[in-house]
Amino acid sequence: MTVRHFLKDTSITALEQAEILQLALEIKRNRFAYQPLTGPKGVAVMTDKPTLRTQVSFCVGVAELGGYPMMVDGKLAGVGQRESIADTARVLGRQTAAIVWRTFGQDRLEEMAAYAGVPVINALTDDFHPCQVLADLLTVAEARGGIDGLPGAKLAYFGDGGNNMAQSYLLGGALAGLNVVIATPAEFQPKPHILAEAQAVAATTGGSVEVTDQPQAAARGANVIATDTWVSMGMEEDAAARQNPFIPFRVDSQLMSLAAPDAIFIHCLPAYRGKEMTAEVIDGPASRVWDEAENRLHAQKALIIWLLAQAQSSAVAPSAAAPARSVGMAAAPEAGSPVGSAGAAMVPDAAPTASSANTAGTADGAAQRGSGPASNGEATG
Ligand code: CP
Repeated sequence: MTVRHFLKDTSITALEQAEILQLALEIKRNRFAYQPLTGPKGVAVMTDKPTLRTQVSFCVGVAELGGYPMMVDGKLAGVGQRESIADTARVLGRQTAAIVWRTFGQDRLEEMAAYAGVPVINALTDDFHPCQVLADLLTVAEARGGIDGLPGAKLAYFGDGGNNMAQSYLLGGALAGLNVVIATPAEFQPKPHILAEAQAVAATTGGSVEVTDQPQAAARGANVIATDTWVSMGMEEDAAARQNPFIPFRVDSQLMSLAAPDAIFIHCLPAYRGKEMTAEVIDGPASRVWDEAENRLHAQKALIIWLLAQAQSSAVAPSAAAPARSVGMAAAPEAGSPVGSAGAAMVPDAAPTASSANTAGTADGAAQRGSGPASNGEATG
């Protein structure tokens, strides 16, 4: 059985990203039509850091998919301290259909994925926030008439170029074929290997990535203006030092006036008016931040459906397996169909579910759930 994870934006291909976004649009129209977690199957929603949107959107999303969301306080569980990450993964993987984890180092998430035997989803690490960027791409797609409106759009981000949002915009935006510009002070650059990966991805999708310390040039003609807090979680002690360098990168009306006439403003939230953007921008007509916050729900539901469908399709015997397209969503869900494409593979009783396939997968399942790292067919880095 192949278990796919979503550890960073490029854990999926460009086509897979488009499939998930298309499914998210369908889910938003038919919110309760998809029930792959009927049982209810449990999904662990674990966090080592503060959260509002992430915990609510995952918990509501899992419930709407027919499952049971189980909030786990990572500090109380003592992941990596009271118990090793590997042992935590083995325990959670035996009892849940998927693991959602917000944590610090990307290496922690990768270790969880190596031992879990069920899909592991990055709910934010120090390096990436890929679920947020999926929701952001959904928001941009809605503003531009659908996912076909993504390639070639210019997304300009203003703020800390080395934080998880900037780095996920680089990877996820490049994957979607966007022209991503990161406007950041010289001392807050993205990690070189992440920028290099984004450049390589952009070369395959027709997108582009650029890092600049010139905010006006970055804003000029942009279709999407994005920003984030200047003080990411875990950097609170540096808050005072992280003010002045970013002031020229504040998104205000003057900066917005340089963007395309129909440009939208997005922010993953929480937002600090008067810091990274002015109130007139976030509360103004170009702002899509509340759609963006809602879209966490739809994008993540689509992601969960898609990840479970991958595990299920790989667990089905070849003779019984559906054609390859049924594991993804190459075609948009049929009009009027309550359950489209990947969702169809998740209809209860139609086929082994991801969870039942895991437990029924004897040798394969045992290998993934017992001792060593799972061979899950995906580079987890
Ligand atoms: N955008 C976001 O991840 O919000 P929370 O930190 O509140 O989960």
